[in-house]
Amino acid sequence: MAAQKTILRALSGETQPIPPIWMMRQAGRFLPEYRATREQAGDFLSLCYNSDLATEVTLQPIRRYGFDAAIVFADILLLPQAMGADLWFVTGEGPRLSTITDQAGLDRLKPASAIHETLNPVYQTVRNLAGALPGETTLIGFAGAPWTVASYMIAGRGTPDQGPAHALMAENKVVFEGIIDRLTEGTIEYLSAQIVAGAEMVKLFDSWAGSLKGEDFEKYAVAPTKRIISALKARHPGIPVIAFPREAGDKYIGFHAKTGADCVAVDNSVSAEWAAENVQKDGCVQGNLSPSHMVTGGEALVRETRRTVAAFRNGPHIFNLGHGITPDADPDNVQRMIDTVRGG
Ligand code: CP3
Repeated sequence: MAAQKTILRALSGETQPIPPIWMMRQAGRFLPEYRATREQAGDFLSLCYNSDLATEVTLQPIRRYGFDAAIVFADILLLPQAMGADLWFVTGEGPRLSTITDQAGLDRLKPASAIHETLNPVYQTVRNLAGALPGETTLIGFAGAPWTVASYMIAGRGTPDQGPAHALMAENKVVFEGIIDRLTEGTIEYLSAQIVAGAEMVKLFDSWAGSLKGEDFEKYAVAPTKRIISALKARHPGIPVIAFPREAGDKYIGFHAKTGADCVAVDNSVSAEWAAENVQKDGCVQGNLSPSHMVTGGEALVRETRRTVAAFRNGPHIFNLGHGITPDADPDNVQRMIDTVRGG
């Protein structure tokens, strides 16, 4: 029964004595079984597009830990690739893309309706998972939010301050806003197809929202998120959405109401007590233990896990890290965190 799943109960606003738990990047390099399957696939992108192996790595952390949610194994940069950008990963460094900085580049992007040809394997992974997951596990679909994805498309790589994207915003608003619009349309199509394939909720990752200040935050983080959420809810009534405007700071306040998100995920640059007081009053919150505890473990891990649970205990909460788990994390620390959340 869908309504019984703990994550969906939190998303509908229910306060639970033990919060449901999953972890960003739970299928990742800290797990030996993930590294083995990635090796079998050849490289990261081949793994994303191999539905059988992507299903396998999505299930690995569910089997090992029994998390309350599984997130489909894919990447936020598959969408620009499906829109026509070249994408590759440099081992040890990260993603590289062909850049888009002018009207001609914008015109070359494929329309939202053409993305499915490339992304069909992701939908197949979602279908596989919908049939394979334990009955109590919620299946999460996801995409990057337009600003974050645009920052990679404009720079051609990850950047510490999203400088190239800010520069294009200042120098050529027409092209910059054109990219945001095209990504907004593509994201609606992409998430909608994941929902049709069986995703029970979706999450928007705006990893670089923190570098948008003032009006820019409203125009390029809030507005596209709101547009995506309204379109998804119109097409798929009741579909729950988590928004993650990472490092939004004070701008986390009111983000539920401004965007229509059912849950706002908070990173660990704000305290759980602050987020409980200022963000959870408006609805479900996800977060926000520092991923560093998965590396360092010990008493601090137990203490901070308990503190996070305690801070959020009077409202709807999904326990998670404040950002993705890192490759140097110890799998035993993850078990200790879960035992602490579930066992007190
Ligand atoms: O959370 C999950 O387990 C689901 C899968 C997932 C991946 N990436 C797999 C992945 C999700 C939800 C993402 C989101 C993503 N991808 C974001 C937003 C979240 C965040 O972390 O801020 C961003 C910015 C990306 C883009 C991306 N993908 C980068 C910058 C990198 C390289 C950095 C790194 O960690 O290596 C990736 C690679 C990537 N995506 C890996 C995984 C498991 C590591 C690839 C590998 O196996 O070598």
